[in-house]
Amino acid sequence: MNIVLGITGGIAAYKTPELVRRLRERGADVQIVMTASAEEFVTPTSLQAVSGRPIRTNLWDKEAEASMSHIELARWADLVLIAPATAEIMARLAGGGAPDLLTTLCLATEAPIAIAPAMNRVMWANPAVQANRDMLEQRGMRILGPDVGSQACGEEGAGRMLDPDDIAAAVCDPEFAGAVVDGPLAGKTVLVTAGPTREPIDPVRYITNRSSGKMGYAIASAAHAKGARVILVSGPVMLQEPNGVEVQRVETAEEMHAATHASIVDVDIFIAAAAVADYRPADRATQKIKKTKDTMSLELVRSPDILASVAALGDVPFTVGFAAETERVRDYALGKLENKKLDMIVANRVGSDCGFDYDDNSVEVLWAGGERAFPQMAKTELAHELMDLIVERFTSTRGPDTQPALSIVSIKD
Ligand code: C5P
Repeated sequence: MNIVLGITGGIAAYKTPELVRRLRERGADVQIVMTASAEEFVTPTSLQAVSGRPIRTNLWDKEAEASMSHIELARWADLVLIAPATAEIMARLAGGGAPDLLTTLCLATEAPIAIAPAMNRVMWANPAVQANRDMLEQRGMRILGPDVGSQACGEEGAGRMLDPDDIAAAVCDPEFAGAVVDGPLAGKTVLVTAGPTREPIDPVRYITNRSSGKMGYAIASAAHAKGARVILVSGPVMLQEPNGVEVQRVETAEEMHAATHASIVDVDIFIAAAAVADYRPADRATQKIKKTKDTMSLELVRSPDILASVAALGDVPFTVGFAAETERVRDYALGKLENKKLDMIVANRVGSDCGFDYDDNSVEVLWAGGERAFPQMAKTELAHELMDLIVERFTSTRGPDTQPALSIVSIKD
């Protein structure tokens, strides 16, 4: 488990070296981010020694940002834990501001956030602090404590930071992650294929396409944010693995087919975002082919259609296909929806100015009896919009009160 531990400026910060040790004893990797005022209570040197990682304190630290930017750090985290959490950080989180590294990271992460408040008992009881506490909890943050007892200021009451061992035990409990990663797809499994495939010609050459995998990776991440267990079967891409997602790397269409079918029994929603090579060389030369002739021809054979094969299964998951086309996008997409017997198809135009390898995309989504158009937007944003629609359609066709999958009756342009 990768934990970003945010330390803010309360006296309980002196207990954080022990918290780090307790977290590491339970197998967590801990990256510390301190606010400026936390440094008044505990030194970065001690924390670096116990965490084994350089401490991050400043959003504008060029060297640290170059090795792992705050966005990469936000993606790296399986959990952001803020301990101690002062009244000030709670107010900043509630207000959505991002004046420093820790607050920026909290806005940028899709990981669950847990806070262990610690402050004087009168501060803790203040209505403004309590309102912020309630708001943060409503937004899904886990509030750990505070404890009741003697306080550093000499008073007695509620506001002590929970014992480091109790905090570590709580966040490292497997059920804790389950409880915080909640959402409409909690308990469901989503399998996403992404990226291109590579079909070898000989040991050094292959056939592939321009797919970057960005759309599929963004969808896997968005499905995880909705609480699903996500399996991402990925062709060769240059992307960072999304947080909390089980990634299986493959190269060829046949490997992608095998990996998909090996996991499909437990899958509730199958999203085929991969650009699978339709054809592969009939033979793969064992040695590098030499240029002895002026022309050469390759015999190609059809690759297995992964999506169609999943949609044809007896106990079929909710299936979503993609239709990346350079022309007649809608016609071809409707044809695929019907021929492959899909629940939904995402149609997008690809070409030299859009689609593959771009960060933005605009799509039209079609299903039996409905459609929705999404304007040009970032693939990461579009992925969340698409997942909202997929959840809506999945729930209405496969929800507990409905019949099994709707059959596609007739689809006409
Ligand atoms: O048939 P076509 O390749 O145009 O269909 C595109 C859709 O089918 C995409 O969702 C793609 O991931 C999926 N597909 C597949 N296996 C193939 C070819 C396409 O899963 N061999």
